[in-house]
Amino acid sequence: METALKDIRSIDYPRFSHERASALKKSLFEKGIGNIYSFGRVELGLDRAIGKGNTSIIFLGNYENKKVSIKIERSDSERKGSLKKEVYYLIKANGHGVGPKIYGYDDNFIIMEYIEGDLLIEGKFNREDIFDITRQCNVLDRAGINHRQIQGGKHIICGEKNVIIDFEKAHLSNSPKNVTSFLSMCFLSDCLVRERIKEIFDFQEDFIKTLLKEYKPNSNIGDLIKNIQ
Ligand SMILES: Nc1ncnc2c1ncn2[C@@H]1O[C@H](COP(=O)(O)OP(=O)(O)O)[C@@H](O)[C@H]1O
Ligand SMILES: [Mg+2]
Repeated sequence: METALKDIRSIDYPRFSHERASALKKSLFEKGIGNIYSFGRVELGLDRAIGKGNTSIIFLGNYENKKVSIKIERSDSERKGSLKKEVYYLIKANGHGVGPKIYGYDDNFIIMEYIEGDLLIEGKFNREDIFDITRQCNVLDRAGINHRQIQGGKHIICGEKNVIIDFEKAHLSNSPKNVTSFLSMCFLSDCLVRERIKEIFDFQEDFIKTLLKEYKPNSNIGDLIKNIQ
């Protein structure tokens, strides 16, 4: 059972002004939000949030009987307007079946599908998850959307389904590098994700490098995945 926020000012992070919080609340409820919950890993005085970054704070909410993630621009964001950009790329990605489904937005927030699960970096994934995410990266490559934060493993949620999140830094590109960034993180770079990969794949780094070189000119995902198997 989720409990509602104790103090509505929590949604205006970190200024906690009554004015902005009320304006945000009004707009969120007009867009169909039924409730905003105190839930998640981030402590904010009396309340909790599910995520916090440099530009935004994310709350769990309820929209048409569905759990949603409400991403709100921070009042101290140094990249004002970045949420607007994220809306643009998220809508594009959704058009190709990628990313959390977007349900509503205004200049200050995005209401989107809540994805249950752990971040990729937490390591609870299997081989099929890796192939699935590689295919999603390929869809973005073919759509000309470069996510730009795929490496790092903090922008992919692995749960019942695998979902790439946070399109804030995305841009259009003639040579998107989603697949290359993702597989380099998995198989080539020194990171936690690779530690888990070593447990579930038997691979040679040079072979992966060759596969990525071959992938570059044609974006052929079938061959790539067949060869990693
Ligand atoms: N749609 C979502 N479903 C579930 N959790 C989410 C969702 N979007 C964001 N989160 C959580 O909030 C955290 C921060 O989100 P993110 O979009 O990366 O914010 P920022 O751009 O401010 O870094 C994520 O790491 C994740 O834990
Ligand atoms: Mg971000």
